[in-house]
Amino acid sequence: MKYFIYGASGGVGREVASLLLKKGESVVGSSRKPTLQKSESNLSWIEVNTEVPEKGTEALHGVDKVFLMSPPGHMDQYTLLKPWIDESKKQGVKKIVLMTAMGIEHAPPEVPFKKLELYLADSGIDYIILRPNWFMQNFQTSWLSGIKKDRKIYFPGGSAKVSFIDSIDIAKSVVGAFEDSIEKNRGYMLTGREAIDHSEVAGLISKATGITISYEDITSESFVSMLINNGINQDYSNFLAMIAGALKEGKSVAITGDVKYLSGKEPTKFEEYAKENASVWK
Ligand SMILES: NC(=O)c1ccc[n+]([C@@H]2O[C@H](COP(=O)([O-])OP(=O)(O)OC[C@H]3O[C@@H](n4cnc5c(N)ncnc54)[C@H](OP(=O)(O)O)[C@@H]3O)[C@@H](O)[C@H]2O)c1
Repeated sequence: MKYFIYGASGGVGREVASLLLKKGESVVGSSRKPTLQKSESNLSWIEVNTEVPEKGTEALHGVDKVFLMSPPGHMDQYTLLKPWIDESKKQGVKKIVLMTAMGIEHAPPEVPFKKLELYLADSGIDYIILRPNWFMQNFQTSWLSGIKKDRKIYFPGGSAKVSFIDSIDIAKSVVGAFEDSIEKNRGYMLTGREAIDHSEVAGLISKATGITISYEDITSESFVSMLINNGINQDYSNFLAMIAGALKEGKSVAITGDVKYLSGKEPTKFEEYAKENASVWK
């Protein structure tokens, strides 16, 4: 079977592509820089750039199943991904798996990510929407500089507990969601199997690395400044601060069995993830 993976060079997309290739499937992946990506048999690349959302959609010709995600930093996910749903319909794609985020199910219909979910649900194509919680991998990407420089996790999370998810478990769930045996045309909430707060995260990274790392609960304003200093645009920084506010109110604590249902495996515990990735914080 032939799959198209939007963002196949990214954290989740790369793992999805790799798992599909291991199953012997054929994959077309997207990147802004396809020539820099590693090609191998059964894997080809096309150029996709949000600046011209419909560019590259012709690659859907002959594709059976599609994974869509929205690159971070973009606020209008509906405009970016609608052309990919429209072209999928024209090309007779059998199933679309769309990754949005936990909480989008409660958003008003005009919020772009929610509008996109509703558009997909109305498209007539078989679909599954995956809504993951905050990724464990943020501690090795977005929040890494504070950990490396000051040995601190800077985040406005208070003492709220979060059922962080390993992005590899998201990828396994995406691959599971492509299977016909999975109940389709609905959403799933992807979470870890335990909920812990940011002080506990700091403790588990300290234990895994042997380096003392602490958590500093910062204000929403400091968080926005930190994100802007890290190169994230103002609108997306404000958006991240807004959803971090929801986290602080306890809205990211739920634990579901959806990863187990979709992937057949229990989600990774933070302690296991920290042990596996200890070298990135040293
Ligand atoms: N982080 C979290 O805690 C969290 C929680 C819930 C949901 N999410 C959702 O997860 C998604 C992020 O997933 P991820 O971590 O796998 O992302 P990622 O690692 O940042 O990967 C982004 C992918 O998009 C591509 N890309 C970047 N900019 C692009 C552009 N302007 N045009 C076209 N392609 C572009 C990148 O490829 P190139 O660089 O090669 O072009 C890469 O393949 C977001 O939609 C976010 O809302 C994240």
